[in-house]
Amino acid sequence: MALPSARMVRMLALIAAIPSVVLAGFTLWFPDIKRALAYGPLIDAHTDVDCAQCHVPSRGTVRQQIQAKTHHLIGLRESSVDFGYQPVTSTVCLACHARPNERHPIYRFNEPRFSEAVRKVDARSCLGCHSEHGPQIVDVQIGMCSNCHTDIVVKNDPIDIKHDTLIRDGRWESCLTCHDFHGNHAFQAPLVVSEGLPINAIRSYLVMGNDPYGSEKLYNSRQP
Ligand code: HEC
Ligand code: HEC
Ligand code: HEC
Ligand code: HEC
Ligand code: HEC
Repeated sequence: MALPSARMVRMLALIAAIPSVVLAGFTLWFPDIKRALAYGPLIDAHTDVDCAQCHVPSRGTVRQQIQAKTHHLIGLRESSVDFGYQPVTSTVCLACHARPNERHPIYRFNEPRFSEAVRKVDARSCLGCHSEHGPQIVDVQIGMCSNCHTDIVVKNDPIDIKHDTLIRDGRWESCLTCHDFHGNHAFQAPLVVSEGLPINAIRSYLVMGNDPYGSEKLYNSRQP
């Protein structure tokens, strides 16, 4: 039997290499595929928002990304790249949700005096309190107002049990029964503590919507 030509050997080597290339490709992609499938649905209010409005592709072609990832794996590159998409940031949310009446604008909380508070509740980012595919629309402790409002002074306090009494008694769960967080609802804070919204209505709003402050907003979100 004649020996295979050099050309034939190269061909065979190439063919033999295909499965390992495919396999390598798969192991690189697999964690991402698994992650994508494991991700939950969007919040109801965002059903019409396209994936691409929040998920912006990373820079570079897919080939460059695979190359960078491979180089990272074999130690030629210091850092890996985000596979396919950049992390979602507050900037994409603000494109539809920026509003001039914002009571708690995120940029304010970069000030050093909030450094202790933002370790408990990260008010510097929309995603410090909101998740998109997660189990809750708003993922915060109802009493989180305590991180910043222990020493508020309300002049001519109009409510029946005064703010400083509520605060002294640690009644932090009461705050959201009379105030929304962003101040964007056309909702008048009641003057009587027992006439606040039921705490369970607030809880269910934070988990899945059903807005107890009413559907009327002072500024509407930009439609997708
Ligand atoms: C309104 C913005 C928004 C929309 C629309 C959106 N996502 Fe997301 N997505 C996020 C945010 C924010 C995260 C970060 C984790 C979280 O909050 O759940 C995320 C995380 C993910 C992740 C995990 C990525 C990682 O690196 O861990 C996948 C996968 C994903 N989204 C897929 C999708 C798909 C598929 C769609 C379209 C059906 C979609 N997303 C639509 C905001 C969005
Ligand atoms: C393309 C526009 C768009 C983008 C981008 C977008 N939203 Fe929205 N969002 C809307 C619209 C429209 C509504 C429904 C009207 C409303 O509740 O204001 C909404 C509603 C919401 C609600 C209220 C949910 C409810 O049930 O009451 C939250 C919370 C929210 N968005 C957070 C976010 C966050 C956080 C991001 C960034 C990860 C984001 N949105 C990105 C358009 C957008
Ligand atoms: C410190 C926690 C916190 C941060 C940070 C935060 N939110 Fe919220 N968000 C809440 C809470 C609590 C509610 C429910 C009370 C309310 O409706 O104001 C809410 C409600 C909302 C709603 C529905 C009510 C409305 O005002 O239309 C939207 C939309 C929203 N958030 C968008 C955002 C966006 C966009 C960002 C970033 C710019 C952001 N939030 C940052 C806590 C937060
Ligand atoms: C990370 C810090 C922080 C957290 C957490 C926080 N706030 Fe505030 N809040 C502020 C700051 C700062 C201001 C602006 C005060 C000023 O301008 O003097 C403010 C202002 C307010 C105002 C007055 C707005 C106005 O028109 O003057 C209300 C009402 C309010 N917050 C309610 C709440 C409620 C309710 C919670 C909990 C759900 C909460 N805040 C959580 C920092 C915070
Ligand atoms: C019974 C309802 C009620 C409860 C409970 C309540 N507030 Fe108030 N709050 C009001 C009213 C009414 C005002 C004065 C008018 C306004 O600003 O809406 C006010 C004013 C404020 C102000 C000052 C706003 C300004 O314009 O100067 C802040 C800050 C505030 N509340 C925070 C809180 C915090 C934090 C809690 C929880 C400890 C809380 N409130 C509990 C009804 C309530």
